[in-house]
Amino acid sequence: MRTAVPAVGALLIVSGSLFLPVSVHAQEYATPYGPSSQDAVNRMIKLAALRDGDVVADLGSGNGQIIIAAARSNPKVRGWGVDLQDWLVKTATEEAAKQGVADRAQFTQRNAFDVDLREVSVVNMWLFANLTRLLRPKILAEARPGTRVIVNGQLIGTDNILGNWQPDFIDREGTSPIMLWIVPAKVEGFWSWELPLAGTSQSYDLIMQQQFQVAEGFARVGNRRETITDVKLRGDELSFLFELTLTGVGRTRHEFVGKVNGDQIKGTVKVAMPDGKTAEVPWSAKRTASSGWFRPTGIDVR
Ligand SMILES: C[S@@+](CC[C@H](N)C(=O)[O-])C[C@H]1O[C@@H](n2cnc3c(N)ncnc32)[C@H](O)[C@@H]1O
Repeated sequence: MRTAVPAVGALLIVSGSLFLPVSVHAQEYATPYGPSSQDAVNRMIKLAALRDGDVVADLGSGNGQIIIAAARSNPKVRGWGVDLQDWLVKTATEEAAKQGVADRAQFTQRNAFDVDLREVSVVNMWLFANLTRLLRPKILAEARPGTRVIVNGQLIGTDNILGNWQPDFIDREGTSPIMLWIVPAKVEGFWSWELPLAGTSQSYDLIMQQQFQVAEGFARVGNRRETITDVKLRGDELSFLFELTLTGVGRTRHEFVGKVNGDQIKGTVKVAMPDGKTAEVPWSAKRTASSGWFRPTGIDVR
């Protein structure tokens, strides 16, 4: 299933459970139809940890089994699937009606590249890796932070499915690996905030650098700088810490926990003070166009 298939004429790929020739003019690589195994469907639904209000999409929905299973698993979940092949859209629509979930499981003949991912909270795929990879820019541009992306690794394995964006988790318990990615918030850039501490107001500058869900950062308070550690970015949830000497306060340890919302982070910070006491105060950071990190430092050697 790894082979790139040119989009010319009718294709016949007989590979494991994949079958049916399909003429595809819409893309370089065709992924033929084959239903995920029942075991894979069950584990994809389980890994999605569906909750009330979830909207699930299947990009290349085939017979609709994943969306139908999602809708059946929770009456407050709805979903939709798209497929290039009209007969599969028809089959899926009929099956949803048969199973009594037609109002919450809808199917359309559409190219996966043309859908709107802004409203979904779960994206399922089982396509050639060439295609899942090409869908990555769309997922990262449109899907909200926290959106779960689930890929069935049946026949395609686990390598390079979304390029260098590594899965957050791989379930290897069943007949095929099932991968999970959580769409990370965009934290790359400059952030700043103020904190009232020990009767003083301290100004903080943070530089964040990010590759998908892996983020690093560098903080400056006054003229001191430190690398932040224990950085965790999961969806819109960000946490990190650093230890730093603050002018007029002394040696401190800061532990930040917050939610990223566009150009704002809101949360709390626990500050362990030099006297052993810990203060917990609200934390509100703003993304900025430039950073105080780069201000001159001077040669004060105290
Ligand atoms: C391997 S099947 C997976 C079916 C279903 N998701 C499942 O796991 O049971 C892949 C499906 O994707 C469809 N497909 C391939 N490229 C597509 C595209 N660009 N947009 C929409 N559907 C596509 C194929 O027609 C096929 O039905």
